[in-house]
Amino acid sequence: MNVKQIENKYFMPTYKRSDLIVKKAKGQFIWDDKGKKYLDFFSGISVCNLGHSNGAVIKAAKKQLDLFAHASNLYYAPAQIELGAQLAKKFGGKVFLANSGAEANEGAIKLARKWGLLNPAKDAAKRYEIISFDNSFHGRTMATMAATGQKKFHDYLKPLQEKFVFAQFNNINSVEKLINDKTAAVIIELVQGEGGLFTAEKQFVKDLRDLCVKNNLLLIFDEIQCGIGRTGKFFAYQNYGVKPDIVTLAKSLANGLPLGALIAGDKCKDAFTYGDHGSTFGGNPVACAAANAVLKQMSPAFLSKASQTAKYFHNKLKELQKKYKVINEVRGIGLICGLDLKINGKDIAAKCLDKGLIINCTHDTVLRFLPPLIITEKDVDAAVKIIDEVFAQLK
Ligand SMILES: Cc1ncc(COP(=O)(O)O)c(C=O)c1O
Repeated sequence: MNVKQIENKYFMPTYKRSDLIVKKAKGQFIWDDKGKKYLDFFSGISVCNLGHSNGAVIKAAKKQLDLFAHASNLYYAPAQIELGAQLAKKFGGKVFLANSGAEANEGAIKLARKWGLLNPAKDAAKRYEIISFDNSFHGRTMATMAATGQKKFHDYLKPLQEKFVFAQFNNINSVEKLINDKTAAVIIELVQGEGGLFTAEKQFVKDLRDLCVKNNLLLIFDEIQCGIGRTGKFFAYQNYGVKPDIVTLAKSLANGLPLGALIAGDKCKDAFTYGDHGSTFGGNPVACAAANAVLKQMSPAFLSKASQTAKYFHNKLKELQKKYKVINEVRGIGLICGLDLKINGKDIAAKCLDKGLIINCTHDTVLRFLPPLIITEKDVDAAVKIIDEVFAQLK
């Protein structure tokens, strides 16, 4: 049996995989089992932001692996402490390290509930409701699915974890209407990754911050997909001049190794106390050593270069939009961007793959691009050429 047949027989069919069998990956390229080379404009869903098999990341992870892989959170692992301190200082607060994005958000939800308990409404009612947004995506655990504003995920999970309510993205009145004595927090992605690359407007984010201050609510930014340099700044919120009370990170934090983080600012950083939260593997030393190497490489110069390439890419996408009527809109910020189409984009993504370009289609009509931040203008030209060829064949 080949790998596809084995997977078909032994795995629960939760993923729809393409035919690509990955043999090797380096930088912005992936090679399949037959030696065919692909330009990767997806980075494993925004995971390998520094490119595949980044030398410094591998070296740091291997060095830690040679020392020890796991010691438990009942003791100190210096690589973990170094990472936690760096993240906490970067944001200005305190950190909890997890293994994944869903876990980071789950921790943020728990922290908001604990904070809501410690800060009741005037009538002493416990505050536990969280306002989320239509079209959002926050993970696959029960609480993060309940926080996800896409009904297609909810059907078989009902009854859902209480209590998430949903406002309209970029509509401040719709948020205000949902606030009551039980509201503890608002959670939002500044760029909705899975939801079709909708970007939060600057004024809306500022208004959201003001509304949370006025009503004494926590503001949580889920930067699991859009954080860690993808928008040209380390934190996506730095593009807005608005700081949340909690930010969650995962995906590219360790450039391919599983790691998540929630970082909380002054308002709620001390809400958790001993025993409130924990994880056996959370903040694994090997993943943390890799993440330390990631942070070292995310210099202002590196991010500014990535922003320049992103601008070049956006201009090329706008040229494509002018050329093909089937393209509705260019969406996104920096290197979390895409094309909204008037037609289903699944076939287009598949045709790009045939031609050696890895992209994704989300929400049926949105071609999603999440290239590693190391791509060059030459890579953009190569990718756009392939996308152009595929659109040309549709005519
Ligand atoms: C914005 C956002 N939040 C949370 C998650 C969940 O992360 P993970 O798959 O690591 O649990 C994702 C994953 O795609 C995401 O894009």
